[in-house]
Amino acid sequence: MMEGAGLKEQQHQRLAASGQAHLLRYWDGLEEGERAELLADLDDCHFPESLCFFRRAAQQAPPEQQQQQYRVDESMEPVPKEVQGSVSRDRERLPGWQAEGLHQISQSKVAVLLLAGGQGTRLGVTFPKGMYNVGLLSQKTLFQIQAERILKLQQRASEQFGHKCTIPWYIMTSGRTMDSTKEFFVKNDYFRLQKENIIFFQQGMLPAMTFDGKAILEGKSKIAMAPDGNGGLYRALGNQKIVEDMEDRGIAYIHVYCVDNILVKVADPTFIGFCVEQQADCGAKVVEKTHPTEAVGVVCKVNGLYQVVEYSEITLATAQKRNADGHLMFNAGNICNHYFTLQFLKDVVTIHEPKLQHHVARKKIPYINDQGQQINPDKPNGIKMEKFVFDIFQFSKKFVIFEVLREDEFSPLKNADSQDGKDTPTTARHALMSLHHRWVLNAGGHFVDENGSRIAAIPSMKELTDLPIKCEISPLVSYAGEGLGKHVAGHDFRAPLIIDENGVHELIKNGL
Ligand code: UD1
Repeated sequence: MMEGAGLKEQQHQRLAASGQAHLLRYWDGLEEGERAELLADLDDCHFPESLCFFRRAAQQAPPEQQQQQYRVDESMEPVPKEVQGSVSRDRERLPGWQAEGLHQISQSKVAVLLLAGGQGTRLGVTFPKGMYNVGLLSQKTLFQIQAERILKLQQRASEQFGHKCTIPWYIMTSGRTMDSTKEFFVKNDYFRLQKENIIFFQQGMLPAMTFDGKAILEGKSKIAMAPDGNGGLYRALGNQKIVEDMEDRGIAYIHVYCVDNILVKVADPTFIGFCVEQQADCGAKVVEKTHPTEAVGVVCKVNGLYQVVEYSEITLATAQKRNADGHLMFNAGNICNHYFTLQFLKDVVTIHEPKLQHHVARKKIPYINDQGQQINPDKPNGIKMEKFVFDIFQFSKKFVIFEVLREDEFSPLKNADSQDGKDTPTTARHALMSLHHRWVLNAGGHFVDENGSRIAAIPSMKELTDLPIKCEISPLVSYAGEGLGKHVAGHDFRAPLIIDENGVHELIKNGL
């Protein structure tokens, strides 16, 4: 093992060549363990490559211009009608698309891929978001809900086509979330899925940089680092041989989704069937964006190429533009649910990925100053670089979008609870219970109040204050509202109600 002084000298030479020697300024006072920590961070920084990313990103969008938003607006066009499908406008075609999707699932040709490398900064938790319990009656976490939806779909497709099938679940984590995510799955016995069909892999990290390209020391032995964005997916797919794994398993279609949407229809057969029938290589699910300032990206064309313009990148004037019919002109709200063929992913990984630019975000990055004090800056002092998962839409030869209903499919968990907060544990919980309430009503069940009087399906203002009716249906019983008639038709229920694989439980009657 190299002695402290020799090791320092060697690192110094290497770092000085990239202008990063300042990262060693506390070296002499560090304990052995701290030195090891710093060396591990230095390894992950991949200088000079990350510096190269910095220069390219800075050229593309000089940091000082970021605040004014670089103007993609003038080149934006809405997605043409011909490439759109919709659950509300194409109702008669839904059964056909669903049948096609289920058929592909039954052939074990469909995989799902979860983007779970984010840090959950806005939610303010130190553990992976998928482990979050939003306070449902069942206390299930986001990971468990998703796992059970996969199980149910496998079961439905197997029953319908008379043979077993598998939907492999690829889970991308980052350096910071890998161990806790894996431990959680082990502790929960993989939620009854088969261990060999859950494949964890890890995205890369990048150092945060000052505006002049110096990596930032967050502590004396710690470099400020962050995952390289959900578009870090493509690099990770290549360098961890995930594409090969998919090929070996005979996968043809992949549903990629983000971890935080409690209503996500994992491996949605209708979406997959639609994309397959359109012979698309790349597709995105969207909901109608109804407010100009809603924090969702919009799918559109920029300079003739498909892309998502993020909520942080669009100007208010463009976000407010309306068509003659009154709808927002850019209303294809991205819900981070994407479809790719394996062939397209292979091309992305092998040909296109190196061409992707990092997006630059100006951030307030805590750092340690020359006197060794910890500083929390009150204005941005540096940048983080991220690639985005949708940056590859531009390479698609046949791109489609599929519009779904927000109340059925989109309620993300982004922020901690607060009065009137948006996208919080409370809004996520309410969205799920309100959807399941509607499933019960649509299947012929009813809810009654404490006096036994039926509660109207569309409640009065007074009843609205008591909403939502507490009702939760296990994904193991129903994936999307199907098959509930035998449990609920003609019955009156008093909430809270749980329907799971052990039956129908009115918690009040059960004294719970
Ligand atoms: C994302 C979309 C936005 C969309 C919104 C809908 C991106 C870049 N933006 O925004 O267009 O309208 O969701 O809810 O997709 N993640 C990683 N690695 C990372 C960073 C994030 O895996 O380095 C994962 C997160 O764990 C999460 C997903 O990517 O599952 C989305 O990340 P998040 O930061 O929440 O994106 P938003 O800004 O909410």
